[in-house]
Amino acid sequence: MRRHTLTAIDVGTTKVATIVAEVGDNGGLRVTGVGITPSKGLHKGLVVNISEAKESIRESIRKAEQASSFKIESAYVGVTGRHVSSMNNRGVVAITHGDRLVRGDDLKRVLACAQSVKVPSDRRLLHVIPRTYAVDGQPGVKNPVGMHGFRLDVETHVITAAVTSVQNLVKCIRGIGVDIDDLVLEPIASSEAVLTEDEKDVGVILADIGGGTTDICVFKDGSIWHTAVLPVAGYQLTRDIAIGLGVPFDVAEEMKKRYASVMPVYEAKMETENPISQDGHGVSHQDLCDIVRARVEEMLRLILLELPRSDYETLVPAGLVLTGGSSNLSGLDILGRDILKLPVRIGLPTHIYGITDALNDPAYATGVGLLLWGAHHEDTATWKSGMFDSALRRILSRFKSLFR
Ligand SMILES: Nc1ncnc2c1ncn2[C@@H]1O[C@H](COP(=O)(O)OP(=O)(O)OP(=O)(O)O)[C@@H](O)[C@H]1O
Ligand SMILES: [Mg+2]
Repeated sequence: MRRHTLTAIDVGTTKVATIVAEVGDNGGLRVTGVGITPSKGLHKGLVVNISEAKESIRESIRKAEQASSFKIESAYVGVTGRHVSSMNNRGVVAITHGDRLVRGDDLKRVLACAQSVKVPSDRRLLHVIPRTYAVDGQPGVKNPVGMHGFRLDVETHVITAAVTSVQNLVKCIRGIGVDIDDLVLEPIASSEAVLTEDEKDVGVILADIGGGTTDICVFKDGSIWHTAVLPVAGYQLTRDIAIGLGVPFDVAEEMKKRYASVMPVYEAKMETENPISQDGHGVSHQDLCDIVRARVEEMLRLILLELPRSDYETLVPAGLVLTGGSSNLSGLDILGRDILKLPVRIGLPTHIYGITDALNDPAYATGVGLLLWGAHHEDTATWKSGMFDSALRRILSRFKSLFR
């Protein structure tokens, strides 16, 4: 069976995760190496100190190379942060062939048309994702190739990002000598790893609550409908604990991970009455849980407010899927169901095998999702900054490997 290797780098606010995997012909991903390091030089998903960020990324890449015995030359990289914005757009073209048959190049033309949105010079296009097609006004067509018609319409989800933020991240990774296969919006990557096709069909919200950002995307009728990035996540929870209980940040972080629970008050009463201590700081368990629960309730409501419509039950009957490191908070799914009156589940990364023990945590949904996204979009992956540039580089690197 033909196999080739892909790499993903998830540069998060709290950790950098580099994952190397082999893709088989059946599309399965066999993880061969993982490198995880705490990240430095990042704030709310953005690089704020290039040399520090570069060091963390370098270390994570080194560990993954060592584990997999594979030299990483290029990688799929995640993008997040407040600078990301999205909108839905349309494109339309006439089918001009004599037989009126929709062909692959018509798809390319109609997507190019939908792509011709006015992007300000300080922003760059990250994704133009086809959501649905219509042939001669008949909507809901998933793949129009092979159909007959005079007119082809496409609805797309267009995502743009600030040039400077993307440049800083790219500079860190290229500076280490690793090329970029493609940049992928993090919630889109996470959705590849944790959502089922059924959930995407009926309608679902995915929220990846990490350290610095909560990345959100909404799927409806099998395609992406809305994306957003909120600048609140695990860091704010820890800060609230540190301020509220008067303990240092690292003690608060440890208390949060070990003892915090957001179980609704009536469920958690017995447990929370015992006091807890950490590194010589004693606090009431009840106070710790109350602080975290207040902020988490607010975060859950903010996630729902991101939906463009308020008829949640009909829009997203599959409810909310939570992932990211902060979704490890005990009781989060129960509290979510209580407040939002929707189904809520925690999403772990799926579709991988091999050395996956280290990845069996919602914190690695983005990293695994980047690999899955890469495996599904390899043929079209062209980093938008220089399609030609990177295609040329890929050809050159193939030549290099021939002569190695
Ligand atoms: N058991 C736990 N309970 C509560 N929070 C937890 C737990 N384990 C990890 N976290 C939190 O998860 C967060 C890290 O999550 P994750 O690794 O997904 O973030 P990241 O990808 O580095 O950041 P981002 O995606 O926001 O840039 C930290 O804030 C950490 O405190
Ligand atoms: Mg993350």
